[in-house]
Amino acid sequence: MLKVGFVGWRGMVGSVLMQRMVEDGDFNGIEPVFFTTSQVGQAGPDVGVDVPPLKDAFDLEALKALDVVITCQGGDYTKEVYADLRGAGWKGYWIDAASTLRMVDEATIILDPVNRHVIDAQLAKGAKTFVGGNCTVSLMLMGLGGLFEADLIEWMTSMTYQAASGSGAKHMRELLNQMGALRDSAAAELADPSSAILDIDRKVTAAMRSGDFPTDNFGAPLAGSLLPWIDVKRDNGQSKEEWKGSVETNKILGLQDNPIPIDGLCVRIGAMRSHSQAFTIKLKKDVPIDEIEDRLARHNDWVKVIPNDKDATIAGLTPAAATGTLSVPVGRLRKLAMGGEYLSAFSVGDQLLWGAAEPLKRMLKILRE
Ligand code: HSE
Repeated sequence: MLKVGFVGWRGMVGSVLMQRMVEDGDFNGIEPVFFTTSQVGQAGPDVGVDVPPLKDAFDLEALKALDVVITCQGGDYTKEVYADLRGAGWKGYWIDAASTLRMVDEATIILDPVNRHVIDAQLAKGAKTFVGGNCTVSLMLMGLGGLFEADLIEWMTSMTYQAASGSGAKHMRELLNQMGALRDSAAAELADPSSAILDIDRKVTAAMRSGDFPTDNFGAPLAGSLLPWIDVKRDNGQSKEEWKGSVETNKILGLQDNPIPIDGLCVRIGAMRSHSQAFTIKLKKDVPIDEIEDRLARHNDWVKVIPNDKDATIAGLTPAAATGTLSVPVGRLRKLAMGGEYLSAFSVGDQLLWGAAEPLKRMLKILRE
């Protein structure tokens, strides 16, 4: 029985992972060991099977006894522990949600509905380090996998609409507090149907710009606004999030030697936990739209092609519809005015599920096959 250590299982991504593993009975047939950075010796969580008391997440001897480590603890933990653990001769499987190791040679980025062939080839070569991809990248590939699989994409832009959860739990709370503060600033006028909308707007704008507005986490208003920058700046003017769109996609697909150009703008918007993206795709040839829809729909069990009409789109192609589900709706599929090789598409997906927890959960299953 695989002895599997869980680190960072109480945080947002870790909690989603626990919930999904319990739902699917994944704790049966493994020996789970839960680690902590602060509560050593306390009772472990109830996951339906017996678990020992919590162990110290920095105890290399305890970690060395494991066949598999799954960590959602974050990049700082990975930096502090991974190299020392490998240096101590540990040969187990390291499955990580953090970005720290993604681009190092020994790490494989995992998204098995899209790159099972890459994962299998790496396992056959003895690879032991598997890292979940950036959420936006994973969700893009789940939605557009059929076009990549058929090698139809010459280049692509992705313009994102990323949810607050991508920044963390505190940011989700701050977004809601911002929404509440905006509403409260015009509560009296909102209650009066005859009040002037420009008065409401003036109050809301003043509230958003006031020193009292809760912006400790985002550093700026997000509710009623947006933030067209995610993560740090790179030398070429891209944000790091935009850079990941290209390098991670090509690594996931095993195309590092002949990469598909992918670039765009990453934008934070006031959604809670589902990321959306608008794509302009330059196809290698003029493929009929029904063939495109068919290839997309058949690629995996979770992508859902939404017909390009208004009712279907506003009912099914939104964060409100996708959140909390494994479904990855993709729609707004049409040829652009530039010509038959230019395709538009729009996708949505829960960034905590396919964007974070699900690929890790599935990697553990692959190791158990
Ligand atoms: N970097 C992503 C975001 C989330 O900020 O939305 C994690 O992949």
